[in-house]
Amino acid sequence: MFRTTPLPRLWLPLVLLLLGVPLAASGQDEVLHHFYPSLIDSNTGGKLNLSDFTPARQCGECHDTMYRNWKVSMHARAFDDPLFQAVWAEALQQAGPDMERLCAGCHSAIGTLAEFVWIRESGQVIADNIAAEGVTCDLCHSVVAVKLLRKGEITGNAGLILDPTGPKRGPSSDASDVFHGVAESKLHRSSDLCGACHNIFHPVSHTRVARTHQEWQQSIYAENDITCQDCHMVPPELVPGIAHSLKKPALPGATSVFETFRTPFYPHTFSGANVPIPELLGNADHAADARTLLQQAASVTITDVEPDPGNGTLTFLVTVRNEHAGHNLPTGMNEIRQMWLDVRVFQGEGKEPVWRSGGLDEAGRIDPEARLFRALAVDAAGRPTWKPWEVERIAEDTSIPAKQSAKVEYRVPVAAAGGPLRVEATLRYRSFSQQIADDYLKRDGYWVPVIAMASARVEVAR
Ligand code: HEC
Ligand code: HEC
Ligand code: HEC
Ligand code: HEC
Ligand code: HEC
Repeated sequence: MFRTTPLPRLWLPLVLLLLGVPLAASGQDEVLHHFYPSLIDSNTGGKLNLSDFTPARQCGECHDTMYRNWKVSMHARAFDDPLFQAVWAEALQQAGPDMERLCAGCHSAIGTLAEFVWIRESGQVIADNIAAEGVTCDLCHSVVAVKLLRKGEITGNAGLILDPTGPKRGPSSDASDVFHGVAESKLHRSSDLCGACHNIFHPVSHTRVARTHQEWQQSIYAENDITCQDCHMVPPELVPGIAHSLKKPALPGATSVFETFRTPFYPHTFSGANVPIPELLGNADHAADARTLLQQAASVTITDVEPDPGNGTLTFLVTVRNEHAGHNLPTGMNEIRQMWLDVRVFQGEGKEPVWRSGGLDEAGRIDPEARLFRALAVDAAGRPTWKPWEVERIAEDTSIPAKQSAKVEYRVPVAAAGGPLRVEATLRYRSFSQQIADDYLKRDGYWVPVIAMASARVEVAR
């Protein structure tokens, strides 16, 4: 049965107050949030049993297409993602045991709720099968409400309340099933469900480390009810049309093996921007979807070309526009994501550029002069850092909001004589730096794929 009154949780602070126990701000959070610093919670306000949850494979016996799509997505790999596990181990070593729950709260929410996921100082990870399923079916479909750190705060840090023993929550008002109860949930049609994990804030400094949901809220998509689901639970080829028309998708499909057809139907693709990890884990099709999404996200144009204004300088303007992403570009953990302009100038028939900004060196480092689009985070001492637990504040944010543009002016010294010039500008994306791959993935000879998102070229006659 569905229990709605989490009495012990409400009473505990009151009892403590009556006893005269002083409550510091963080102490209060810890009392109100059983799994603090993660905000994940259960309808009882306490620990759940692993056996309260059903493994994805079992749901997949009836919901076969959802299972097939989800299985290759980063949601299914959120826990066994080798980069996550390596960075998680370091978080634990550097910032202490609180990191166990904070990180697992999103990457293994069920493991956290059932207190069945551990990581040792050595980096060894222990989790039962269902706790290792990452962001799984019975996690999302047991969510009954969103939970905030405190009133007025933004959603985030896994602030979700689950009731796995109640009916499965879904978008339809008229679905029914004999295997499990079904209840209509407006939350499942809303971006708030996703926002609980797609906003990450530092539990102490409250700095927003990832702000995807917040960025979306400030976009034209939120105004027009184009949700995360509308772009990430459809084949990626449809995204430009949806972003352009601001019309919700209405795909038809079978919601189960029992010929239950519905429109709209949401394939559980969860296509994103991660190419390297799905490739390393053998999910090539999901990686291909990420390439497609990235290649449709932005446009690049070159304008205001002024060849040789008397002093041997070529000047031009490169404009990068966020055409189809429903949030900033890049988004998510954009302290580690890399998006930058690679601009090359060629002269005459030359195959090698006479000038370049944005190339990679032999170690895979991006040219320090390159124009990057990113959130630059700094630690308490003001040093740049990408490590979520060290982030004190965001010193600079050059990521591009939805439907907005960034303009970059280039001034290139060119020889006064010589044939015509050609300018090529390419927007490139890499999920993480080569250095991070070398340090954390530790695979000899591995090269992080760089995706060309969009490009433009102009010929300059002289
Ligand atoms: C990240 C959260 C999430 C995960 C994981 C997830 N779902 Fe869903 N599911 C949703 C949302 C959100 C919708 C409704 C989308 C809408 O209508 O906007 C949905 C819809 C559905 C529907 C209704 C039919 C449809 O496609 O619209 C079924 C059935 C379903 N999910 C089953 C599953 C199964 C089975 C799995 C695991 C293989 C799963 N879901 C994993 C979030 C999730
Ligand atoms: C024995 C078959 C079976 C199993 C196993 C099963 N389901 Fe279902 N489920 C159904 C059927 C049939 C429906 C009704 C579909 C409809 O009307 O569109 C349904 C409906 C749903 C809905 C409501 C869809 C909507 O449109 O609102 C959700 C959510 C859902 N199931 C999730 C799950 C999850 C999560 C699991 C695993 C914990 C699961 N189901 C296991 C058969 C099953
Ligand atoms: C319980 C937390 C949680 C919820 C709820 C959640 N996500 Fe995620 N999501 C994650 C985590 C964790 C990852 C990253 C996994 C990794 O990279 O290791 C992720 C990754 C993604 C990605 C990137 C995939 C890629 O290939 O790059 C997309 C897109 C995404 N989620 C969309 C959604 C949408 C849409 C919803 C709502 C329907 C949603 N998420 C709800 C935790 C969650
Ligand atoms: C109008 C379509 C659209 C909407 C709405 C939208 N997205 Fe995206 N999303 C994209 C596109 C296109 C990309 C690929 C380019 C990029 O990385 O931003 C993307 C990328 C992502 C990524 C991968 C980022 C990375 O670099 O690893 C995540 C995570 C994500 N979206 C989550 C969400 C969430 C959560 C919401 C809702 C709050 C949402 N998106 C709403 C289109 C959309
Ligand atoms: C509020 C939910 C949440 C919390 C808490 C969280 N993460 Fe994540 N994590 C995500 C989401 C969502 C993504 C994917 C976003 C994107 O695509 O950029 C992600 C991505 C990552 C990635 C990149 C994975 C890849 O394959 O590129 C790493 C590494 C990571 N998280 C480590 C951590 C560590 C370590 C902690 C704890 C200090 C942590 N996360 C806490 C939600 C969370």
